[in-house]
Amino acid sequence: MQTIKKIVIASHNQGKIAEFRKMLAPLEIEVCSAQDLSLPDVEETGTTFEENSRLKAETLAKVSGLPCLADDSGLCVDALEGRPGVYSARYAPNRDFDKGMDMLLAELKQSGSNDRSAHFSCVLALAIPGEETKVFEGRVDGKIALEKSGNKGFGYDPIFIPEGFNKTFGHFEADEKASISHRGRALEKFVAYLRQK
Ligand code: IMP
Repeated sequence: MQTIKKIVIASHNQGKIAEFRKMLAPLEIEVCSAQDLSLPDVEETGTTFEENSRLKAETLAKVSGLPCLADDSGLCVDALEGRPGVYSARYAPNRDFDKGMDMLLAELKQSGSNDRSAHFSCVLALAIPGEETKVFEGRVDGKIALEKSGNKGFGYDPIFIPEGFNKTFGHFEADEKASISHRGRALEKFVAYLRQK
């Protein structure tokens, strides 16, 4: 595998890009976003996290000619049969996650289930022009809080309590979240792969 000097993050989500930049900083790889290079948004037509992350990374690697890292992630709630899952971004009307979280809390209440277990999943795909795509997975288990709490992070962070803690991701500093999060765990595998090559 060639040495990576510059990588495109195939996302327009500023929260995610900030997490990637922070985690990749020690590797001395120039990180740019799809937006920095005016690359198109890739439609997520897959039905699994892996399908979507491969699709985004491979499409943008082809368009830009650069190594491209994409993630697909989401929140899977057991009592809702794994929903919203791959549809987590679209579950929130107009990507208004404050509303999305209210809807999810209401749906969970309506389900009548006492099971609040849930997990975040993340699949990272690294596409390098002319090479096989590699995928790296991460997951964090936890439960859905009774109400929203905390204003840090993004997306569904204020309603997710990771296992072993009694506060939501909405109260986590970026470093603390990265050390246990689904994306942090997938990125650790990605970084280990880059270091051993
Ligand atoms: P996508 O991977 O861009 O399709 O977006 C997945 C969606 O899942 C995001 O828009 C968030 O709503 C949610 N999500 C993924 N990771 C996290 C996280 O770390 N915290 C909160 N929400 C997340």
